[in-house]
Amino acid sequence: MRSGIPEHKIDEIRDATDIVELVSGYVTLKQKGQNHFGLCPFHNEKTPSFSVHAEKQIFHCFGCGAGGNAFTFLMRYEGTGFPDVVKFLAQRAGIELEFEQEEQDPDSARENEALFHINEFAAEWFQESLFADSGKPAMDYLKNRGLNVDQIKSFGLGYAPPGWDNLMKRASETANSEDALLLAGLILQNDAGRRYDRFRDRIMFPVWNLSGRVVAFGGRILEEVENAPKYLNSPETAVYHKGDVLYGLFQNRDAIRHERKVIFVEGYMDVLSLVARGVANVVATSGTALTEGQARLVRRYTRNVVLMYDSDLAGLAATLRGADVLIENGLDVSVAELPAGHDPDSLIREQGKDAIVQVANQAGSIFEHRLNQILETEPKNRTHGIRALLESLTRVKDMIQRSVLMTRAANQLGIEEKVLWAELEDLSRKRQHQFARRSEIGDRLRDVGKGSKPDRSGKAVDDLVRILLHDWSLAEFVFNHLDLSLVGESDKLSVLTYMRNQHTGGGSPSEADFLHQFHDVGLAQFVVGELHTEWEDGMDLHKWAADCINALQRDRIQRQIDILREELKGAADDPARVREIVKELGELERLKQAHISC
Ligand code: UTP
Ligand code: MN
Repeated sequence: MRSGIPEHKIDEIRDATDIVELVSGYVTLKQKGQNHFGLCPFHNEKTPSFSVHAEKQIFHCFGCGAGGNAFTFLMRYEGTGFPDVVKFLAQRAGIELEFEQEEQDPDSARENEALFHINEFAAEWFQESLFADSGKPAMDYLKNRGLNVDQIKSFGLGYAPPGWDNLMKRASETANSEDALLLAGLILQNDAGRRYDRFRDRIMFPVWNLSGRVVAFGGRILEEVENAPKYLNSPETAVYHKGDVLYGLFQNRDAIRHERKVIFVEGYMDVLSLVARGVANVVATSGTALTEGQARLVRRYTRNVVLMYDSDLAGLAATLRGADVLIENGLDVSVAELPAGHDPDSLIREQGKDAIVQVANQAGSIFEHRLNQILETEPKNRTHGIRALLESLTRVKDMIQRSVLMTRAANQLGIEEKVLWAELEDLSRKRQHQFARRSEIGDRLRDVGKGSKPDRSGKAVDDLVRILLHDWSLAEFVFNHLDLSLVGESDKLSVLTYMRNQHTGGGSPSEADFLHQFHDVGLAQFVVGELHTEWEDGMDLHKWAADCINALQRDRIQRQIDILREELKGAADDPARVREIVKELGELERLKQAHISC
């Protein structure tokens, strides 16, 4: 088991937990027969479509498709991982977990712990220094910017005093290792081997992950001087990947969930300034491009993202294009229009909380925003903008939303809708082609044995799982013909393996069986979504399943061909090897043809 907690313990905890009682702690439920209904905590709704089934011990939302068991409910609600949820529910049920093992291999777990530990040691000392007499200039600065002591504490703000070795000295006094400081990037080493503190005379902003551990720091200069960067940041480490962090998410996650909306701002100080004045559903992207990691992080709390960046920002247009990654990950993105010359911090300081709330509430969809920008340019200069907009629309997965936007764009731009659709389809195709090419190149660098990458054969795998969820009688056919090693790295492998084992054992899994099996929010949602989707009658599922299996086999062969072709290029001066490769290629091509025609 991934969590290192024995399966029987997990069963024991599940049996001891009543999902209706658990969910009632978070959502007001009304009973109707075996079902209890309430407002879904995972999307915004006014009439209840969220149901919890007492007997099956599962939940499902008919509105947004969320579904799962007690574990996955809490994982989603709290935004934490399976092991934490198991521990929490064990404690709640009074069950002891004797075997608490680490998930990762012991070496990297130890290194991570060392990094957290040294960062937390440094954060504590920075904080002490801020509250010491010598930290007065820094404290005054923060107070001048409107922060109070509570907030300074809850965000763990600190001060790195001037001097080259304060932190190093403090570490040696407290038996903290210099090597750990170096690993965390808290100290640097010059060519002569001399070590020195990275952060000197700076206000320190610890960056926390969602487990409340300190993973990195940003350090702000007290007074801006020329040629010195305003902020210095920790380098990436084993526990810090810039793209996987949102500043303030740990402290503000409840407010975000409660408001059902998160405001993205640019800087550390924007977050603190807004929180200080009562707008707490805010995180900072800290001057980096938006990433999929960030999309995943916020998606645990809300789907509604308001981008609130300084409108004079040189990079605003790029940031808006960068928002495609959020859209692609299922988030609803809107753009707040700050009055010219303002950033969130200056606006709230000048005009108060209501001004920010109003700007956030008036934020329109990012597509409207981009459409308006296009409308502001001369008709003859619009082509590029329109194409970029359509390119973003190819990422909108919700067909209804896409279609509404297309109609509006067509009307406002005065372009026939079918012309826009044709262009959109063309862009979609190009994108898929690029995608396929990119993954082919990646595949060649990988080992064939590793199997298919999800990009390329992921769809076939997803489809197979879908087909079996809809018609279990096809299990016999599928598992007689499918070699699971073809499935490669797909996240659905665990579902298929479970299905295969069930099939071998003569079982026929129910919805509840599936939901109790997968402690992964995404998989649970996929399964429940499929089980509640009606398919048209008359589809030939048998043929579809055969096509999928065929596609996976063909894919594997193609990858072997690619690798051999690559090898062939480098084997020119080894005629024997060339002959071998050519022969192998011939066989593979024949095999491939056989798969295409069957
Ligand atoms: P800002 O300059 O807007 O910072 O940069 P800020 O947080 O609003 O700070 P104040 O108001 O000037 O005190 C936005 C973000 O870009 C990153 C930081 O994460 C900052 O919060 N940044 C900026 C750097 O990493 N390095 C820099 O030199 C400047
Ligand atoms: Mn600022």
